[in-house]
Amino acid sequence: MADTAPRLKPADDWSARQYLKFEDERTRPPRDLLAQVPLESPRRVVDLGCGPGNSTELLIERFPDADVIGMDSSPDMLRQARERLPSCTFVAGDLSTWKPESDTDLLFGNAVFQWVPDHPKVLARLLQLLPAGGVLAVQMPDNTNEPALLLMEKVAASGPWAAKIAQANAARNDLPRPEDYYDLLRPLCSRVDIWHTHYNHIMGNHAGVVEWFKGSALRPFLAPLDAAARETFTANYTEDIKRAYQARYDGKVMLKFPRLFIVAVR
Ligand SMILES: C[S@@+](CC[C@H](N)C(=O)[O-])C[C@H]1O[C@@H](n2cnc3c(N)ncnc32)[C@H](O)[C@@H]1O
Repeated sequence: MADTAPRLKPADDWSARQYLKFEDERTRPPRDLLAQVPLESPRRVVDLGCGPGNSTELLIERFPDADVIGMDSSPDMLRQARERLPSCTFVAGDLSTWKPESDTDLLFGNAVFQWVPDHPKVLARLLQLLPAGGVLAVQMPDNTNEPALLLMEKVAASGPWAAKIAQANAARNDLPRPEDYYDLLRPLCSRVDIWHTHYNHIMGNHAGVVEWFKGSALRPFLAPLDAAARETFTANYTEDIKRAYQARYDGKVMLKFPRLFIVAVR
């Protein structure tokens, strides 16, 4: 199965502010994921890769009596999450090695596992650590073949920055197929549901598409560059986005965004 991008170095820390520019759109997939979680009253719930706390907030609303905890590897995201939800517990951790407490009934990972090296193995490990009836619920972007992602790689390969970016291994690998996740996870659980949803996010204009990805997939491409190179890279990328995504009649741009969902019941 495919591996994913390397673990982020501290210098590549996430920006909660940039990520939250599209909070409504980014919070729709975790709502859709949570709607399929078949639990009534879990004891402990952990939001894996909780980011700025937007997904954690959904978990608290749905399970007010549970002990809800957010975990993330980014200091900036954790700071923002603690500000947003002061009475919730947030812990620093790396999913490659992190383990849940034994009374954890729900592990919820929205838009995080695509960043975790060899994430299928990590999913299998975490699922096995859940009690019977416990749930692992995961959503990952499955968009590596969309123009917006392919164009990042194209711009990266065609400028003076090519070697630097190649060394940073910035491009995400394709996700494994749903069938691969099924073969991996089904022997470890009583039920697994795997589906795709294609969102069509409406961006104000082409610059909006670029801003969206500056909060996620573009980060590892821009992180190794100095300010001037970042600016040129972003300008070239914006021109390519304009060519690839035709503006609608009102100037807005539709960003097609396929995402993969998994709900596994131990
Ligand atoms: C795209 S954000 C998702 C935020 C939130 N869960 C949501 O639903 O919008 C991904 C988060 O995963 C975190 N992350 C990336 N790799 C991680 C790892 N190995 N362990 C823990 N968190 C990680 C990042 O710091 C970031 O906050």
